[in-house]
Amino acid sequence: MSRTPLIIDCDPGVDDAVALFLAFAAPDVFDLIGITTVAGNVNAELTARNARILRQIAGREDVPVYAGCQRPLVRRPVEADAFHGASGLGDMAVFEPAAPAAAGHAVDFLVQAVMSRPAGSVALAVTGPMTNLAAALALEPRLASHLGQVVAMGGARSEGGNITASAEYNIYADPHAAQVVFEACRDVVVLGLDATHQVRATDDRLAAIAAIPRPAAKAAAELLVFANRVERELVGGTASPLHDPCTIAYLLAPQLFTTRPCRLSVETASPLTLGHTAVEFRLKSPDEANALWVSAVDAQGVFDLLTERLARL
Ligand code: BDR
Ligand code: CA
Repeated sequence: MSRTPLIIDCDPGVDDAVALFLAFAAPDVFDLIGITTVAGNVNAELTARNARILRQIAGREDVPVYAGCQRPLVRRPVEADAFHGASGLGDMAVFEPAAPAAAGHAVDFLVQAVMSRPAGSVALAVTGPMTNLAAALALEPRLASHLGQVVAMGGARSEGGNITASAEYNIYADPHAAQVVFEACRDVVVLGLDATHQVRATDDRLAAIAAIPRPAAKAAAELLVFANRVERELVGGTASPLHDPCTIAYLLAPQLFTTRPCRLSVETASPLTLGHTAVEFRLKSPDEANALWVSAVDAQGVFDLLTERLARL
């Protein structure tokens, strides 16, 4: 079977880091043609550096990292360092990576990498604010129809929000970019909080990862321990949700996820509900759908997949 060309657009980020490890650990499935980074959980300089650190830990310096947009399209930057630590990688020991970022801007890379390959062939996982993708769509509108499967972590319906009462962080951090993406693209698989809050790093799941004697698994376990501490201290829960790795898990094992076609729109005007995702299932015709909303996840299946893959990395 031929491998899927994949780009991961991310803002590492503790859970982005685990998503990257999961993708690094599936070279038989993915031809990981690039990682693009964006300002989000921490500033753009740190997210690009963190992606380079993570690929070095995983021994995947063959994967180019392209630094991307330094601020959202319209709104002021809002970071989530309370959830990810000042470095973006929890309390992991960070270092200056050996290999530099690739030459060129992430947005140019996205356009060039997708448009130079056959239509529908390149998959894109988006695990941060959608600034890079929105900018790429402005640069090359045909990108929307040329992209293959797009899987994004963002939004919430039943779960309210995690950065405000009504908004999820990735959409809140750049709501205008998200609205550009959902207006342009069709069939975006959307893993909002309704899905990712089902996938929790319980003690036994974390112990299974920590027991793997490999550098990336050790780093993943360390990051999840940090995330669980934040979950206890800031949210009052016990096991943190595994948001971003669900995008890669979906691409590896879509049978673990239940989806429902919807029309997704983003609130960009109201200060009170900025970044809220309105998810409408009552469609007058199938053409109205722009997204597939993930409503249910086999959480143990996702953790089994993650554990099994990390053991190979
Ligand atoms: C999303 O927000 C970020 O803080 C995480 O990395 C994840 O992408 C969850 O709402
Ligand atoms: Ca993220």
